[in-house]
Amino acid sequence: MEKITTTVIHEMKDRGERVVMVAAYDYPTARMVDEAGGDAVLVGDSLANVILGYKDTLAVSMDEMIHHTKAVARAVKRALVVGDMPFMSYQASAEDAIRNAGRFIKEGHAEAVKVEGCRGMIKKIRAIIQSGIPVMGHLGLTPQWVHQFGGFKVRGKTKSTAHAILEDARRLEHAGVFSLVLECIPWQLAKLITEKIEVPTIGIGAGPYCDGQVLVIHDLLGLTGPRVPKFVKRYTKLDDAVMKALSDFRREVKTGKFPKLEHSYEMPREEVRKLLSEFKRKR
Ligand code: KIV
Repeated sequence: MEKITTTVIHEMKDRGERVVMVAAYDYPTARMVDEAGGDAVLVGDSLANVILGYKDTLAVSMDEMIHHTKAVARAVKRALVVGDMPFMSYQASAEDAIRNAGRFIKEGHAEAVKVEGCRGMIKKIRAIIQSGIPVMGHLGLTPQWVHQFGGFKVRGKTKSTAHAILEDARRLEHAGVFSLVLECIPWQLAKLITEKIEVPTIGIGAGPYCDGQVLVIHDLLGLTGPRVPKFVKRYTKLDDAVMKALSDFRREVKTGKFPKLEHSYEMPREEVRKLLSEFKRKR
């Protein structure tokens, strides 16, 4: 079993092997991603909306991210564990960025961190890398910038905005990121970036020509209800299976069909006899 490191992720681009990354947030799903051969598990700040029920990713805290990163790291043996730096854990200063990236490594046992954006972030990204922590970049529709962008819309659809994203990708490459997530940009732009930089690109809603792909586990398992973004492919529909199991359980409990004696523990007959006779004596 080859342990996946940031170096291996780089080598995968060189040999034309696609990188498979899944955003997962807990022990059982991270274990399954790892055993299924996923190359990286991202403890995404999508934890906020997917697991914790916040309306977007802005509210999730460092402590919440670390709590889930620990669970994922305990489960994963082969894949690279990447902790996603939450909103305002790195934006204010290089010191904040180093301290919080350090928490992902020391407390969460992640092996790298992900940071959104480029402009205004380069100094912080360099500071994290110079303190020995690998950084994954993230460009395009970066959800922490939702208010700046005025909503969740595809980015880079015009020549000038596409050019700006390509320039940012180059800047992040020079800053030393080991890979780059491209989210919700036209496939032509993602293809161009993938060709122009040496760093492996990992797409989500960025078409088929990236060096790798990432999906959120609940999306790919069909656990997020009927409405999913265009870029999601559901490989199964666990929503339906889970709803059926829960309503079957409810019906069987209400009607006394579950549990049966086969689901129950048994006391040896002699012990039951003694217990009952003691009760009789006491009455
Ligand atoms: O938080 C997340 O899950 C992400 C991925 C969608 C790339 O950032």
